Amino acid sequence: MKLYNYNFQRIDTISKIESSELFDGVFVDLGVSSFQLDDPSAGFTYRREANLDLRMDKTRVLSASELINTFSEKEIANIIYKYGEEKNAKKIAAAICESRKLKKISTTTQLYEIISKITSQRFLLKTLSRVFQAFRIYVNNELSVLEDFIPKAVNLLKKGGRIVILTYHSLEDRIVKEMFRYEMLECICPNDYPICTCGKKSRLKLLTKKPVVPAYEEILINPRARSAKLRAAERI
Ligand SMILES: C[S@@+](CC[C@H](N)C(=O)[O-])C[C@H]1O[C@@H](n2cnc3c(N)ncnc32)[C@H](O)[C@@H]1O
Repeated sequence: MKLYNYNFQRIDTISKIESSELFDGVFVDLGVSSFQLDDPSAGFTYRREANLDLRMDKTRVLSASELINTFSEKEIANIIYKYGEEKNAKKIAAAICESRKLKKISTTTQLYEIISKITSQRFLLKTLSRVFQAFRIYVNNELSVLEDFIPKAVNLLKKGGRIVILTYHSLEDRIVKEMFRYEMLECICPNDYPICTCGKKSRLKLLTKKPVVPAYEEILINPRARSAKLRAAERI
């Protein structure tokens, strides 16, 4: 087994390095690991004080701290709404911009405190998860990476080869669902076209009509698995 500290978006580069023909299978477990969540210095959780970074790859330019101290209030609200699906995005962005006027926001605790002042206790943990998720997705460009990765991975699958993707939130699950569905399509011409001109071929057969989700027993053992969804398809 060989490990590559590469962005999986570059699976095509790795396959060239490996000069392997085609793969029998591709398995992707998205998001952050328990190691990262449990490592206080990694800064992926609002539960402990750490630098507000959220980059999975520290060579990436933009950290979460830089984002919230330099982006406009409107941009921050858009990011929280789009990547966190948080309805109070505008209110939170306004509070962040007010606070940064007084002091640069550089730690997870500072962001926690800003949000806890404007959010009821009842919704606080959910709101914090959504805001941290939003900034994490943005600084790691996670959704565009996934959209770029899937067709590349399908290119590299042998006939009968399988692709299996584990997602942990609805934004990434929606991308996998829609891209698998697209790869299943035989033709994408408008319905009123008398003959097909797109030349598109179906490349995948779905193995999971519905996403596979963890059993209750597994969630009891590993609560972090509760939002996991697995989708699988086979190259045809
Ligand atoms: C859910 S964890 C994998 C956990 C692992 N399967 C385990 O059981 O311990 C996802 C890992 O993928 C890494 N990762 C996320 N996006 C990545 C990307 N675009 N390229 C490479 N690694 C990525 C994260 O840093 C994290 O360590």
